[in-house]
Amino acid sequence: MPTSPRPYAGGLEGVVVGETRLSQVEGQAGRLTLAGFPVETLAPTVSFEAALFLLWHDRIPSDDELRILTTELAAARTLPQAVTDVLRAAAQIDAPPMHALRLGIAALSLRNPTPTDIVGAMATLVSAYVRLCAGHEPVAADAGDDHATAVLAMLTGERPTPAAVRALSTYLVTVCDHGMNASTFTARVVASTGSDLGAAVEAALGALQGPLHGGAPGPALEALMALRAQQDGSTLDARTRRWVTAEVEAGRRIMGFGHRVYRVRDPRADVLQRAAQRLLDDSEAGRALASDARCHERAVLETLRALKPDRPIATNVEFFTALLLHGLGLPTHLFTPVFAVGRVAGWTAHFAEQRANGRLIRPSVAYVGAQDRRLH
Ligand code: COA
Repeated sequence: MPTSPRPYAGGLEGVVVGETRLSQVEGQAGRLTLAGFPVETLAPTVSFEAALFLLWHDRIPSDDELRILTTELAAARTLPQAVTDVLRAAAQIDAPPMHALRLGIAALSLRNPTPTDIVGAMATLVSAYVRLCAGHEPVAADAGDDHATAVLAMLTGERPTPAAVRALSTYLVTVCDHGMNASTFTARVVASTGSDLGAAVEAALGALQGPLHGGAPGPALEALMALRAQQDGSTLDARTRRWVTAEVEAGRRIMGFGHRVYRVRDPRADVLQRAAQRLLDDSEAGRALASDARCHERAVLETLRALKPDRPIATNVEFFTALLLHGLGLPTHLFTPVFAVGRVAGWTAHFAEQRANGRLIRPSVAYVGAQDRRLH
């Protein structure tokens, strides 16, 4: 029996569109749990593989299970030649990395990939594409490497330090899943139609690319760096406050701040702030950047509070993502692709969950166009 339409909620804000056991986002409390574990205890402690297993099987793996998944994921990081050829063609026309990722996943989809194939391949697609664009050949990681080590090794062609691996691992686990975010919802819509996993991941990548979702950390870092570099005799605090005011008056958003669900500080921001701080503490320049970031963050928050008193706007995950990935030496155009390397874990888990329990996602829309028109 058709149900009567409920009131329209712009952006589906507050609308519950399904059920999940994967992660719980509590906006008022500023809490995130992944399969029941608080993100702040899980992310600095377990490997990406363990988090992936947790999302897929709802429990922490045994040592043997972890070893098997680590080996399978390592095998899945070897791309079929046809997929590398697609990346090579994309590099020749300087396609943006997120477009190249979508092309790579589409090419991989022709081979009916498993979830492990997709998660493993995402890391290699990003790394191989960066190297091809720079005129270098892709490099393979060691078969015994865990995923975080492999990503860094494949990106740089060098053995990463334990500190760098720890930071990237914390990042990948922190962002592996996050409720019904836009890219996950996109993946679930595609899954709900009976389409394949590759199509769902490709569509999710398209949603992740947007600056209101996964595209924020690059611009967030660029803004901080530009304000630090300005030499006009005023303090960073004063420059930030002027800049935020001008941006908001021009109708623009401050990247790395604000969230649809969190009304307090994003708990992932705390986890990544600590991880970034540890990384940056290693050098004089790093410590200066971390200190400027704190000053900038404070000035942004206070200015936004004054400009938008009715809307609590706090720091989100992307501000400290930017700092952490910069601390790892990654350029800003890689920030969103590296986000995909972590979030693909959630997309594959949601795909399976949607297939197992979900119905076709097909909401209603309020028609506001013309009525009763006639051609003659
Ligand atoms: N900078 C300036 N103003 C912001 C803002 C930001 N980062 N985030 C929200 N606002 C303002 C809006 O302009 C709006 O003001 P108004 O009511 O005077 O028009 C008000 O807060 C509500 O915004 P709304 O669009 O309803 O919030 P939302 O739930 O759709 O926004 C985001 C959520 C994430 C899209 C938004 O906070 C944003 O654009 N942030 C920057 C991008 C970003 O960091 N994305 C990563 C998210 S993890």
